[in-house]
Amino acid sequence: MSEVAVSVENVGKKFRLYHERNQSLKAAIMRRRVSVHEDFWALNDVSFAVPAGTTFGLIGSNGSGKSTLLKCLSKIYYPDRGTITHNGRLAGLLEVGSGFHPELSGRENIFLNGSILGMAKKEVAAKFDEIVEFSGVGQFIDQPVKNYSSGMYVRLGFSIAINVNPDILVVDEVLAVGDTDFQEKCRQKFIDLKTAGKTVILVSHSMGQVREMCDQVAWLNNGDLVAIGDSGPTIDKYLRSLDGVSE
Ligand SMILES: Nc1ncnc2c1ncn2[C@@H]1O[C@H](COP(=O)(O)OP(=O)(O)OP(=O)(O)O)[C@@H](O)[C@H]1O
Ligand SMILES: [Mg+2]
Repeated sequence: MSEVAVSVENVGKKFRLYHERNQSLKAAIMRRRVSVHEDFWALNDVSFAVPAGTTFGLIGSNGSGKSTLLKCLSKIYYPDRGTITHNGRLAGLLEVGSGFHPELSGRENIFLNGSILGMAKKEVAAKFDEIVEFSGVGQFIDQPVKNYSSGMYVRLGFSIAINVNPDILVVDEVLAVGDTDFQEKCRQKFIDLKTAGKTVILVSHSMGQVREMCDQVAWLNNGDLVAIGDSGPTIDKYLRSLDGVSE
């Protein structure tokens, strides 16, 4: 399969790091200058293509830019340099709680998220039972999600993301907060998605999981793409680079 699902070309993302954030208006006036900042590039000239129908892993140490890259893919951030294109409907599961309105119930959040992801109300209604069933949230579906545990949040978020029938599913390491039973359900779901020809982009610190699930892996370090290739050899290179530092 040579079709490209996601193409990342020369992507750079910068943040401003403030050294002296003005604490109050008075302090700002006294200082008579705006706060000092420097640009910090969380991603530098990153390029790769994810072939359609494959499972693609993003690995790297804390702060290496993995979540920033996923947020760029999901259009939560816009890159300051370069371009990202994707073919097909993309659904993402990023940080715990992102995409949920805390005061709304699980039920209301399902409809809200469904519509954000481009589904008609009818379509969401047709999937509703399946979403609740997979999430395992059960009787808590009418409670405000602010009262959910982190695991419940993630279960519901993942359940919505996979049931909107995405062509490309983007998942940050959040699944790790789920219990063993849920992780096993997710593992099976990833296999199903792959069988159905869908593309999955996954961030994980569990090298076992990445090795098992991903065809290809990109390794990021300090915002740079260090290596990309078949998952086994790329993970080995990454682990060797840690040089005894365990993750
Ligand atoms: N909104 C922001 N403002 C300023 N800096 C940010 C922002 N978001 C991320 N960063 C910085 O960008 C760098 C990359 O962060 P990112 O969250 O992408 O790392 P990560 O690879 O996902 O790490 P982890 O494995 O810990 O989840 C970090 O240095 C982080 O401090
Ligand atoms: Mg992260």
